[in-house]
Amino acid sequence: MNSAVIAPPNATIVDLSPDLESLQDAVIDGLSMSPKWLPAWLFYDARGSELFEAICEQPEYYPTRTELAIFHRHGREIAQTLGEGCRLVELGSGADTKAKMLLRILKNPDGYVAIDISGSQLRSSALALAREFPRLPITGIVADYGEDSALPLEESPGDGPLVGFFPGSTIGNMEPRVAEGFLNAWAERLSGGGMLIGVDLLKSPERLNAAYNDAAGITEAFNLNMLRHINRELGTDFDLSRFRHRAFFNADKSRVEMHLVSDGAQIVHVAGQPFRFADGESIHTESSCKYSIDSFQQLARRAGFEPMRVWTDDDSLFSVHYLRAP
Ligand code: AVJ
Repeated sequence: MNSAVIAPPNATIVDLSPDLESLQDAVIDGLSMSPKWLPAWLFYDARGSELFEAICEQPEYYPTRTELAIFHRHGREIAQTLGEGCRLVELGSGADTKAKMLLRILKNPDGYVAIDISGSQLRSSALALAREFPRLPITGIVADYGEDSALPLEESPGDGPLVGFFPGSTIGNMEPRVAEGFLNAWAERLSGGGMLIGVDLLKSPERLNAAYNDAAGITEAFNLNMLRHINRELGTDFDLSRFRHRAFFNADKSRVEMHLVSDGAQIVHVAGQPFRFADGESIHTESSCKYSIDSFQQLARRAGFEPMRVWTDDDSLFSVHYLRAP
């Protein structure tokens, strides 16, 4: 028998994680494209989530600590803006640091819903939060929170306005047009409430390149771990020693791109199907779009939100927006 974990009575976990078939479809679809690509959600198995936490600790990776500093500095104002008795819905909750911080400053939150693709991390943070906030109803949903995923938000207890919480600039993983569709879907789901969202800002290419090429090699390990994750889940034969991490700022598209570059010509098999790589051919594994405050607010407006407030740090590295959902 497994060691028993006693779930606190105020926590519920709903598992809607993608099945192996959709994982395999995503991999085959992406590798069939030219140029090849793989979706960023494939980073986050248990090890990938841990590596991402380690990235956040690297001196070059400024977003996490800058965003946390903004929350600390403007916490009271942020809590006032979100209002009393809201139901917080966190997208891509990952580690519980930010939610914990926000739940401590919010006035009488009515509930907390955490949605994340990584089941192991979601379970442990939902349980930890349930213990710290024993009177707060907590729902963990293991799922992809994309625009067309059906999420049982109505099942979350409480009746306060729904406020989305989407920190970390994860919105940057989507191309601007995809981000607009995604925000539009959420503007409807959150109608009557709003969204608190972290958005990384445009800055010097040197600073951006350094943030995605840390000296300790953690981002490199994170990028390569996607192949290890796929090998484990699908029994594919990616040789991790024959792919190289590459990350650079693409100024034309205002985004940092991460790639895995094939070292030599090689063939990789997915479900018996061969995928050929030329020497130097890359798989695009992630985009991290960067915005100005103005360009992001325009995007939010087109998506049907009303930008109400924005907070930033002294060096304008990162921004936190409150968008009202009419
Ligand atoms: C979690 C998507 C916001 O794009 O900066 C960090 C992920 N990738 N280093 C980002 C990431 C490489 C991160 N997001």
